[in-house]
Amino acid sequence: MNSPVGIDAAAFAGPHACLDLADLAAARGVDPDKFVLGLGQRRMAIASPCEDTVTLAVDAGRRALAAFDIDPAEIGTLIVGTETGVDHSKPVAVYVHELLGLDARCRTFETKHACYGAMAGLTASMDWIAAGRARGRKALVIASDIARYGLGTPGEPTQGAGAVALVVADRPRLLTVDPATIGDYTRQVMDFWRPLYSKVAFADGHYSIQCYLDALVGARADAVGEGAALLDELAACLYHVPFVKMAKKAHQRHLEIERGAPLDRDSDADRQALAASLSSRVEPWLTLNAEIGNIYTGSLFLSLIDLLRQAAERFSGRTVSLFSYGSGCGATFCLGEITGTAAQWASALDPSEDLARRYRLNIEDYERLVRDGEQADTAESLDPTSYGLSDGLFYVGTVDHQRRYVESRAER
Ligand code: CAA
Repeated sequence: MNSPVGIDAAAFAGPHACLDLADLAAARGVDPDKFVLGLGQRRMAIASPCEDTVTLAVDAGRRALAAFDIDPAEIGTLIVGTETGVDHSKPVAVYVHELLGLDARCRTFETKHACYGAMAGLTASMDWIAAGRARGRKALVIASDIARYGLGTPGEPTQGAGAVALVVADRPRLLTVDPATIGDYTRQVMDFWRPLYSKVAFADGHYSIQCYLDALVGARADAVGEGAALLDELAACLYHVPFVKMAKKAHQRHLEIERGAPLDRDSDADRQALAASLSSRVEPWLTLNAEIGNIYTGSLFLSLIDLLRQAAERFSGRTVSLFSYGSGCGATFCLGEITGTAAQWASALDPSEDLARRYRLNIEDYERLVRDGEQADTAESLDPTSYGLSDGLFYVGTVDHQRRYVESRAER
């Protein structure tokens, strides 16, 4: 029998600045309750022009390897899942491979399917291990994205930026994933897309919500069968989180799938059943997403980090569901089990100190970052200090059509 495979290590890394959604609402003349209660978001992480998909991915990868004491030589596959590539041809992953100091005997590639790329990487890595190709090595899967919508559009309050690194291995320390429970769903839809000429995404917002919910029904049915009752045995349900309210809508649909009928909004019993299920299985693991916003491929795994940092001990040995949705659209639903060792890593996984240190932008600063970001790919020289950045790896401009990255350390 094969040994269990799954997530052995994880880490989040985000940009240095954020915008409060109440400030965005005031600037756009919108009731702040629409963004804070209606969408469920408090803040969104905002990347400066010197922070891109590569720098965020490297930061997350370094954190995961260091915190879980993994030698870069142990990595035999590197996959970066992203919607926000930096080149039409050259993958983000190959920059990350060099900057993390990985071995040349490592297969390296980028996956794209809107927000689904990291789940594609996770399942491909599991297959690589199950096929016997890993020869004792581990896979590093990094979800890295910057979610950009146009200023003043309905999507604007659902932006965000950040990366989640996952190390995938046999006998994992955090979460085992049962390959027999992985179910998939694909359908060609125009719910969200980003043409080659555009920095910002386009979305048919309300239709995209419908497509997401249809994909949940389809992928769950493929995973466990249409009539299967699951929720009673699940400690937690994790979803792709473009905004917090979306995960709650997904969970309502999950309940409706199980009971085989829609909930009745006018029924106290139905409202209470939904509220109880949300408060025990979903809402507690959405606090990081509410602070960071949509990080596309990493959003589901950010919610997993939130769960592990808070409840790994309580849920040791318990089953959780994971649902990844990528517009366009592709989706996967699967089940995982929290390992007995996961609780030891709860504080290593917790990004809250970094989040508390973030610089809070005012609306003028935010709009300047957006404007500068539009020119960043063709700028010859960018100065990280002009964006208040001192420590870290930064993108500093494109010379001879080649992106330049610099490691910077503040003098102390
Ligand atoms: N107080 C409290 N709540 C309020 C409110 C107020 N003053 N005003 C409005 N609301 C509520 C609304 O009732 C609504 O809640 P319900 O959905 O529960 O009814 C919520 O706030 C949002 O209001 P609207 O639907 O009117 O908002 P909108 O039309 O301006 O935009 C959106 C919402 C369509 C999600 C938009 O933000 C968008 O297009 N986002 C990008 C696309 C997206 O994230 N889609 C998600 C599925 S696709 C996916 O998951 C892939 C991905 O990552 C992109």
